[in-house]
Amino acid sequence: MPKTILITGCSSGIGKKTAEAFLALGWNVVATMRNTQESDLEGKNLLVLPLDVTDSRSVEQAVVAATEKFGKIDVLVNNAGFGLFGPFEYEKEDDIRRQFETNVFGLMAVTWQVLPVFQTAGGGMIVNVSSILGQMGVPFYSVYASSKWAVEGFSEAIAYELAPMNIQVKLIEPGPVRTQFYAQKGFQEQRDLGVYQAYFERVRGDAHKRESSGASPEDVAQVIVRAVQGSKDKMRYPAGSTATLLLFLRKVTPIDLFRKIMKASVR
Ligand SMILES: NC(=O)c1ccc[n+]([C@@H]2O[C@H](COP(=O)([O-])OP(=O)(O)OC[C@H]3O[C@@H](n4cnc5c(N)ncnc54)[C@H](OP(=O)(O)O)[C@@H]3O)[C@@H](O)[C@H]2O)c1
Repeated sequence: MPKTILITGCSSGIGKKTAEAFLALGWNVVATMRNTQESDLEGKNLLVLPLDVTDSRSVEQAVVAATEKFGKIDVLVNNAGFGLFGPFEYEKEDDIRRQFETNVFGLMAVTWQVLPVFQTAGGGMIVNVSSILGQMGVPFYSVYASSKWAVEGFSEAIAYELAPMNIQVKLIEPGPVRTQFYAQKGFQEQRDLGVYQAYFERVRGDAHKRESSGASPEDVAQVIVRAVQGSKDKMRYPAGSTATLLLFLRKVTPIDLFRKIMKASVR
């Protein structure tokens, strides 16, 4: 019996490439996205379903439809997300709330619906797509980084809670990846940012450089495949060379020294 994986945010980027990678491995793939008309995924064992992580009804309906079709879900990949980019002082309350509704509460909502399916099956795996910014902060990503820190704290806590039920939790921590992530307005729009302008433009220029030399979404999909097939005891998987280097430094460097290095590199 092929195993079944449900992935959120499959219209583009990492989610789409992860769906393709698991289809190539012969898995049943439930590729979910807000607008299913955007899908050009193809495969024998593919089920494309509408799912907006901020709409609990759509989450419930997708999980029911997936289990009706394939009998169970073995792996959930919480991938859907986006990143606000800009000075915190200039962010709008609605956008800040939308960031947490999607990256944190949305991820929790999907997890919450899938857990009973795992319990019935006697186990399962949750793979949460976090970020290097789930382990460090950098300027102009304050809201996004705090949403990913929340994902990391949530994941670490439920990993202990669910281990006795044979449910594993994994964290994928990409650095820059060449996807639609950088198409959102903070990265593209020209706006008046007062005293932050010069600093912001410098950091935005660096972000664009890092994006163009970043990992491909296919690379991150392969890290997700390794996480799913890897050791039960390994929880965190950096994805891409920037993430591997920075997260290693973060682990081995005393925190004040790490902050000093970061401060010099984000001036
Ligand atoms: N690219 C990077 O540099 C990078 C680095 C670290 C971590 N990540 C993380 O990787 C994940 C995937 O991002 P990506 O880089 O592949 O960017 P992407 O190409 O923009 O993909 C993001 C996906 O999330 C979906 N999404 C957004 N809001 C949603 C919602 N409310 N309900 C369901 N789906 C929703 C998008 O759907 P629509 O098409 O409907 O908008 C899209 O399918 C995100 O969690 C992101 O934070 C990305």
